[in-house]
Amino acid sequence: MGKQLHLGLFIYPGGHHVAGWRHPSVAARDILGFEFYRRAAQTAERGLFDLFFIGDMLAAREKDGRVVAEGALNNIDSVSISAAVGAATRRIGVVATLSTTYNEPYAIAERFATLDHLTAGRSGWNIITTANDEAALNFSRKNHMEKTRRYQRAAEFVDICTALWDSWADDALTGDRARGMFADGTRIRPIAHAGESFTVRDALCQPRPPQGWPVLVQAGGSPAGVDFAARVAEVIFAAQTRLEEARSFRAAVQARMPACGRDPQALRVLPGLMPIIGATEAEALRKEAELNALLHPAVGVWMLSEQLKFRLYDFPLDAKLPVADIRATGSAWTPRVASLLDRAEAEGLTIRECGRMVAATRSHGSVVGTPEQVVEHMATWLDAGAADGFNIMPPYFPSELDLFVDQVVPLLQRRGLFRAEYAGTTLRDHLGLARPARA
Ligand SMILES: Cc1cc2nc3c(=O)[nH]c(=O)nc-3n(C[C@H](O)[C@H](O)[C@H](O)COP(=O)(O)O)c2cc1C
Repeated sequence: MGKQLHLGLFIYPGGHHVAGWRHPSVAARDILGFEFYRRAAQTAERGLFDLFFIGDMLAAREKDGRVVAEGALNNIDSVSISAAVGAATRRIGVVATLSTTYNEPYAIAERFATLDHLTAGRSGWNIITTANDEAALNFSRKNHMEKTRRYQRAAEFVDICTALWDSWADDALTGDRARGMFADGTRIRPIAHAGESFTVRDALCQPRPPQGWPVLVQAGGSPAGVDFAARVAEVIFAAQTRLEEARSFRAAVQARMPACGRDPQALRVLPGLMPIIGATEAEALRKEAELNALLHPAVGVWMLSEQLKFRLYDFPLDAKLPVADIRATGSAWTPRVASLLDRAEAEGLTIRECGRMVAATRSHGSVVGTPEQVVEHMATWLDAGAADGFNIMPPYFPSELDLFVDQVVPLLQRRGLFRAEYAGTTLRDHLGLARPARA
């Protein structure tokens, strides 16, 4: 059997298209209720997805002194949702996102150990350093920590968490009623960490998680992010939109893994993919055009300003993107923003057009076409070594996820590109990742 894909469902309130929440089939108020998440998770499990994933946002979308009310809701607490969804499913993994910049390691180690116990080994942690600068102002700080320092803190943070998960040996819980011994104290090893950012001096308050550690996921593409990924990530949620970029990104992380004492095969890279599916290509294109017509230009300008670190609010919408002025700021952009600038310059794109491009897919990849065309796209990326699978980002919920599960998954299975049933019970089983031995 050839190589098979791994599939994540990236849930987002309303949908991944920025205007998805305005689609007539979506009820904005329902996005906060459990039913929205339950239905999506059970559908993804019916489609044999590896995992269900939610992000984390620690600031409202405030810009220029006002909340950007034209955009949909941001992410709401991911661990709460994961625990609830975990109780409504039996096999699919649940990946929650928490920031290493605005949390303490002991609390995070405890929360993910609990999630892993509650779900019998189906949890994963998307480790982020937090993308938006405004979060600092909500956490008693004046500025968002500089990126290199954020990733240094993240590395120390994760080392502490893994040591805490390892503090109980797998056989430490004995439950020996006769002798009155809940655990074998000689098999519990407190840690003694004193480092740059943290001091922690205890064992974890609960036994080792069923998976040893939750699956460690990462989602940053900067050089510091890549170094961090090579060191710790077992799954990467990537955002490259072109095959060649994705292929070299995956190769770059893998090339750095041996120096960190890791096997390059122990990595699953899942680029985000927003499929807009139609019975014919023309129908899919029509659906995309309908969604883009719902896109509020203010959202495009806001997202573009944020990504370019350049205020575009006072420019006319139909002016050309001022690429020279933007470059003159000397900001350090992520590769995906840099490639947007190149394209805007080459094609003379306007602010409205660039805003639409950034906003429509939230800077992830998309494929618009028939189920066969979606499968072809995925197969090509898998073959080229550009991806180990995809983080599926339906433009709106629930109907577009249903369409993917009912029409794309069976085609993938027929071509031998996707599992016909779950082979194991844990998220590590689904992803083909080894359970870490206790250090
Ligand atoms: C699929 C995906 C999901 C992400 N989810 C979040 C998130 O929920 N919260 C967040 O603050 N950043 C999130 N990010 C942003 C990254 O963690 C990171 O901050 C951003 O990609 C910039 O990475 P870099 O700083 O390494 O360049 C996500 C990125 C990707 C690709």
